[in-house]
Amino acid sequence: MKKPAQKTLEIVYEEFEPGTPLPEKEQMLVDAARDATQKAYAPYSGFSVGAAVLLSNGVVVTGNNQENAAYPSGLCAERVALFSAASQYPSVSIEALAVTAFTKGKWITSPVPPCGGCRQVFVEYQQRHKKPFPLIMAGSERTIRIRQAGWLMPLSFDAEYL
Ligand code: THU
Repeated sequence: MKKPAQKTLEIVYEEFEPGTPLPEKEQMLVDAARDATQKAYAPYSGFSVGAAVLLSNGVVVTGNNQENAAYPSGLCAERVALFSAASQYPSVSIEALAVTAFTKGKWITSPVPPCGGCRQVFVEYQQRHKKPFPLIMAGSERTIRIRQAGWLMPLSFDAEYL
């Protein structure tokens, strides 16, 4: 019997160790995400996440996770930041998104990968503005930068299927 073709998907990303600097603009964005992390509302998980979106008009919009006693009603930092940016600047494209997290009294050492729901939203905004944007996931010991946030959601469902 004929076997199905095996297909491979490959994702390229950059890993920054301490001492390897990020581009200046992106470091500024990480710092903004850290500020936002400190204002997170995460009383249930104790896991504070901050996100900062750089828009192509130069404006930085931040967000953080907002939890709720009815757990599923909460929202991740990435979506809080992206939805806030899109609601204030609907026609402005995204230049970059940075994410940081703090838990158990310290900054996380390894980068926090975004959840599937947030990845789906990255794909939406890339498509909306016809422009991919990089995602910087910053840890205190290691930072990951992916050139197109949407690469984290391969074989994604998007508006073209509708
Ligand atoms: N969380 C985020 O805000 N972003 C992520 O990328 C991962 C998880 C939040 C959701 C919840 O408030 C807490 O972290 C624990 O899952």
